[in-house]
Amino acid sequence: MANAIRKSKTKILLDGGDPHETLRIKNLLGFLDGQTTNPTYVARNPDVQKKIASGRKLSRDEQKNEYKMIVQQISPLVGDAGVSIEVYADFETTAEQMLAEGEEMYSWIPNAYIKYPCILEGLRAARLSVERNIRVNMTLCFSQEQAAAVYAATRGAREPVYISPFVGRLDDGGEDGMALVRNIKIMYRQGDHHVHVLTASLRRADHLLCAIALGSELVTAPAKVLEQWAAQEFPLPDAEYQYRALDAKGHPLKTIPYKELDLNAPWESFDLRHELTSKGIERFVADYRSTLTPAA
Ligand code: E4P
Repeated sequence: MANAIRKSKTKILLDGGDPHETLRIKNLLGFLDGQTTNPTYVARNPDVQKKIASGRKLSRDEQKNEYKMIVQQISPLVGDAGVSIEVYADFETTAEQMLAEGEEMYSWIPNAYIKYPCILEGLRAARLSVERNIRVNMTLCFSQEQAAAVYAATRGAREPVYISPFVGRLDDGGEDGMALVRNIKIMYRQGDHHVHVLTASLRRADHLLCAIALGSELVTAPAKVLEQWAAQEFPLPDAEYQYRALDAKGHPLKTIPYKELDLNAPWESFDLRHELTSKGIERFVADYRSTLTPAA
């Protein structure tokens, strides 16, 4: 089966935080190129949940240690797309604080990518990281402007930089998330290809097919989407493939128009604001705190 799926150049990653699940999905596909994790998945990890269920919450150090153990178990199971590890970031976290945590996390495993959010301080942390040859994955991307800023801020990176447009969360709000992926791919054609698109926040197998059809370099999907794809016997998009931009109820999603943006402009000149990026940070902070002792 792996050979048939490998006809596509798109790398397939699992979105999750449970090493047992990683192994199960790797066996199902016959391979796994990489994995993305985030604070929500760490909070949902079965070992972490068991501790919480027994009435025990974690200190910051214990929580970080749990995260480290999770990624250390996942790391040898996946291929060269690596394991993405997310730093803690709220609206007050500075780039230097994100970088310090990112440097620590980067030392946990040999194939780490450090996730920073697409906000001003996250972009500054990314710039500082690529200067130190730390691989990065820019997360919570909801706009073409953010993608342009990521491109400009990480120019000169020795290794590919990942950018993660969150398709499903845009769809949830009635906008066609795949249109954002298409727009970013078109915009990046004028560039030097140092940023790779990692289509994220998938809700169904059709998102996966569309990401492949658009030439997304990587795609990350939760286990249930990869299982859905397996149940359909791993279809790949052919020349006739057409994506239907519909919500869960079958209503058409609003398209996101393409914008002409100059990738050579200074990264600080792009408008990074997006409501879903702010909401995403709030959600990750809440999930991060959900397993911590109140005093921590
Ligand atoms: C990507 O790296 C994220 O983990 C992700 O895809 C989150 O998606 P969600 O919208 O399902 O939370």
